[in-house]
Amino acid sequence: MADGKNNKEVTLAKLTSLSKRRGFVFQSSEIYGGLNGAWDYGPLGIALKNNIQKFWWKEMTQLHDNIVGLDAAILMHPRTWEASGHVEGFNDPMVDCKECNARFRADHIDLSAPCPNCGNKDSFTEPRDFNLMLSTNLGPVRNENSKVYLRPETAQGIFVNFKNVENTSRLKLPFGIAQVGKAFRNEVTTKSFIFRTCEFEQMEMQYFVKPGTDEEWFPYWKEKRMAYYDKLGINNKKLRFHEHGPDELAHYAKGAFDIEYEFPMGWQELEGIHSRTDFDLSRHAEFSGKKKDCTYRDPETNEVFIPYVIETSVGLTRTVLMCLSDAYEEEEIAEGDVRTVLHFHPAIAPLTVAVLPLVKKDGLAELAKEIELELREDFATFYDQSGAIGKRYRRQDEIGTPFCLTVDYDTKEDQTVTLRFRDSMEQVRVPISELSNRIRSEIKNYKREF
Ligand code: GAP
Repeated sequence: MADGKNNKEVTLAKLTSLSKRRGFVFQSSEIYGGLNGAWDYGPLGIALKNNIQKFWWKEMTQLHDNIVGLDAAILMHPRTWEASGHVEGFNDPMVDCKECNARFRADHIDLSAPCPNCGNKDSFTEPRDFNLMLSTNLGPVRNENSKVYLRPETAQGIFVNFKNVENTSRLKLPFGIAQVGKAFRNEVTTKSFIFRTCEFEQMEMQYFVKPGTDEEWFPYWKEKRMAYYDKLGINNKKLRFHEHGPDELAHYAKGAFDIEYEFPMGWQELEGIHSRTDFDLSRHAEFSGKKKDCTYRDPETNEVFIPYVIETSVGLTRTVLMCLSDAYEEEEIAEGDVRTVLHFHPAIAPLTVAVLPLVKKDGLAELAKEIELELREDFATFYDQSGAIGKRYRRQDEIGTPFCLTVDYDTKEDQTVTLRFRDSMEQVRVPISELSNRIRSEIKNYKREF
């Protein structure tokens, strides 16, 4: 695929430029010069992000009879974050350059080298802890008592609702609670496009298990989550596990594996699978004084205990970057003829079907529009009648539309259209009456070739 020698490799600059040009991702408040660490999702970006979210949600809830959903508030009682350990321990070590005042994460730069901003050597302060939580104030008075945090992870909304969900869903251990939502961190190093931002979205699932069985469920979820990326059509050569050593473990974790992806800037964390023990529920029991809300009674043995938790946690916005990066190809289809194509899995592509009349005249435009309106009920469609047909195909390739339908003069005679496949560029004739079923089965059986 990518070939560095003739400059076809995937770079962040290319992804950022395509995202802006075609309406995937824009800089936040761009007309004011942008805001560090914040990005806006355009018409194609929101479609892609929503489709990825739906894909994850189906995988994590619909396909399990013991995992249910939740949507907790972003703002939570401030004691939550004392209990979770985030007030005390959610810090990154930071250094400042004494010459230019630039600030860096101490673990992201070589402290013995010159400052990456001004080039001075030996100019760094000693590393200091910097809390990553963003805060605001609730109510009319701005003081320490009205301070609330924007959640730095969605997980705590799940922990504090453990009993509500158990009671209302009548679930028995093991069971899971899944949630997708915004999270906020005051990240200092926000470069790399949408990889690390201050406002982002997470897709998290907490799996509550009987203490002792966590040793079985941890490897189970590790494998299950890796298998999910194959379903999503991601190149498995670009995915690997990274086990956290004792010095890398988060304050709540007994064990942790990252799933890493080879992004254009190198191997980086995509998802974390954490064995969180009973840390969170025990702390909420202690800090809230509501022990009953954090324990479970085994209906068979009547034994009461605090469940252990296996967590799977992945960034939704980071997954968007992975999908863009994994899908991107500059493919030489003939000598000197290169097309840019995004090989998204059809289930997540922003548009599924583009309907194109070969020419506007002789009733072909009307016929094509009719077909498009019919398909709209089932698929994300797009109608385009302007420009040469080859150019229109290329425009769809560049945004990852898996299927194009061309309506031509034969359509009027025999009620068939040309179905063109994005990846292979092959074309077949399909009767209009069979289009929906054919597209549905193509999506279901899609397998990308690497
Ligand atoms: N509840 C556990 C938790 O939040 P984490 O490893 O800090 O664990 C989980 O974050 C995932 O959230 C990461 O693997 C990443 O995909 C995403 N994530 C974390 N910080 C992010 C940021 N600043 N920008 C974008 N995504 C982020």
